[in-house]
Amino acid sequence: MSHVVLQTSSPLHELIDELEPFVVREADTVWRLRDAYLSSGGQHALAECLVVIAGRPRRFFLHLAQRTHDGAVVVRPYASPPLDPLPSVKRMIALLAEAMERAHPDVEIAHSTIREAFSDRYRYQPDPQQIGWDPLLPLDALAGRIDWEAIYGRQGEVEIEIGSGKGGFLIAAAAQRPEANFLSIERARPYAVHLRDRVTRHDLRNVRIVRADAGPFLAERVVPGSVRALHIYFPDPWPKKRHRKRRLISSGFVAAAAQAIEPGGEIRFVTDHAKYFAAATATFEANSDLAAAPVPEAEMSDLTNYERKYRAEGRTIHRARYRRVTPT
Ligand SMILES: C[S@@+](CC[C@H](N)C(=O)[O-])C[C@H]1O[C@@H](n2cnc3c(N)ncnc32)[C@H](O)[C@@H]1O
Repeated sequence: MSHVVLQTSSPLHELIDELEPFVVREADTVWRLRDAYLSSGGQHALAECLVVIAGRPRRFFLHLAQRTHDGAVVVRPYASPPLDPLPSVKRMIALLAEAMERAHPDVEIAHSTIREAFSDRYRYQPDPQQIGWDPLLPLDALAGRIDWEAIYGRQGEVEIEIGSGKGGFLIAAAAQRPEANFLSIERARPYAVHLRDRVTRHDLRNVRIVRADAGPFLAERVVPGSVRALHIYFPDPWPKKRHRKRRLISSGFVAAAAQAIEPGGEIRFVTDHAKYFAAATATFEANSDLAAAPVPEAEMSDLTNYERKYRAEGRTIHRARYRRVTPT
């Protein structure tokens, strides 16, 4: 039977508290968490769920259990009384898990279940025709270098985030600065699709997403000098020596990044990995188009999912900024 594991250190009652109100509307279906009943020890809860499909209500329960050994929360169907066999139960688990993740900063859906939780079969795929726009750009249909004004339908500064993951930074930044145009370059399909879902749900019309490898995209598809800021938060560190060539930040990547940003524009880089930080900063500093810039204390990257997780673990976070000092 399907389940989702949420990695967290928050007590179950806090997660439940922040779940309300939980209502998701999709086409002719409404998903609602009616109530949650917590056990006296606080380790278990029953969530009473209601799905109204085309006006017909169906009620079922989910079991939430906080494991004592690692604090993770497991969300699964409540097996007795017998459950409605519709896949709606699985969908509700995914929605509930996602809502918990959104509601509480340290919650993350475990890697082993992320595919299941966000698999195409049970997720809401917004119909671009119905909602009138689609933030996920069909890259193959766009020829040559991207015309920002055409894809955003307006002028404005463009900021790019590379490897947005679940979109913690992107969603918050785009909501806080509606006047700026944001682009996410995300290579992994499940994250790009997850991001699209979040962007449409928040109706962030200033966001676009491309599913692409960031290095070649910056070099070949971005008009040189057309980007105000480039955000790179917690890129995969690939710590094993034989995997180093997979790292995002290489001299070729830095040259493409420096070419993409406008004079005075910035690259913001954050990682928890000290060795990657040392190697990457040396690569940035070797590029004569860039100069190191001061890092303000309160930086937006504290909104990324990885930063929340690593801060909770007490890891040191390394930050750097570079400014383009040469003309286009
Ligand atoms: C470790 S996660 C960090 C996610 C997010 N920035 C955060 O801090 O929570 C790295 C992300 O970069 C994406 N990624 C890795 N290599 C990439 C590349 N070459 N181009 C675009 N995205 C990439 C991965 O799919 C993943 O979503």
